[in-house]
Amino acid sequence: MRRRALASLAVWAAVIVPLSAGAQALPPPRPPSGSVLRAPGDFARIGDPTARAAAIFVEAGKVLQHPRCLNCHPDGDRPTQGIGYPHQPPVQRGDDGLGVSAMRCTTCHQAVNFEPARVPGNAKWRLAPASMAWQRRSLVEICALLKHDPLVGWAWSPGGYREPAPGTQADFGALIRAWADAGAACPAR
Ligand code: HEC
Ligand code: HEC
Repeated sequence: MRRRALASLAVWAAVIVPLSAGAQALPPPRPPSGSVLRAPGDFARIGDPTARAAAIFVEAGKVLQHPRCLNCHPDGDRPTQGIGYPHQPPVQRGDDGLGVSAMRCTTCHQAVNFEPARVPGNAKWRLAPASMAWQRRSLVEICALLKHDPLVGWAWSPGGYREPAPGTQADFGALIRAWADAGAACPAR
């Protein structure tokens, strides 16, 4: 128990201390991305429900294909960061998506963002399952893979200098619901 805690601390110190030391040199936090999402009502003029659902899904795709989401839904077993660079250090998914023994996600990622070192955090932080690897897939392929309502609030308050996902979590939820209500059709391309 104690040995594990110490080992974790060592990894933490090795990564976090140099990061915090360099923190002053980093640019100031970025303002929220000005990008907005269109509301479900903006699609009301599309009479055909299938065409309407497809158009709504393309709008929702602005979020689904944003780096704040794709970094946890990577193509492979290693998360990505920033605008899609390989995660440093080279952590792996492990059996439960929480990493392998000495490199557990929770060693570094806490329940909330840790601003002094700009480490993002959320209580549910772990890698999305391989079946949800969207990074190199088209929106049409992602659409076909989607089963539930995605509500990952962190992506709209990512901390540090990360650009938040477009719109708000509520706007995105409304789009996904409207898409489902219109029949959940996928875009043709
Ligand atoms: C910190 C990592 C992480 C981030 C960031 C993240 N996801 Fe996920 N996502 C997961 C995990 C883990 C699962 C599977 C477990 C679950 O459903 O909670 C998942 C599941 C999903 C699912 C369910 C897919 C299905 O087929 O059931 C959707 C949809 C989804 N995420 C969308 C998003 C969107 C949209 C964003 C950005 C706004 C996002 N995710 C950001 C980790 C993440
Ligand atoms: C040794 C510490 C450490 C471990 C272990 C670790 N991470 Fe990270 N992770 C970081 C740091 C630090 C950052 C921030 C990098 C930056 O933005 O400059 C980060 C960033 C990320 C991001 C990018 C978020 C974004 O969109 O900007 C994702 C996704 C991520 N980690 C997922 C994971 C997952 C999943 C695991 C476990 C499999 C994990 N990390 C394990 C330190 C760690």
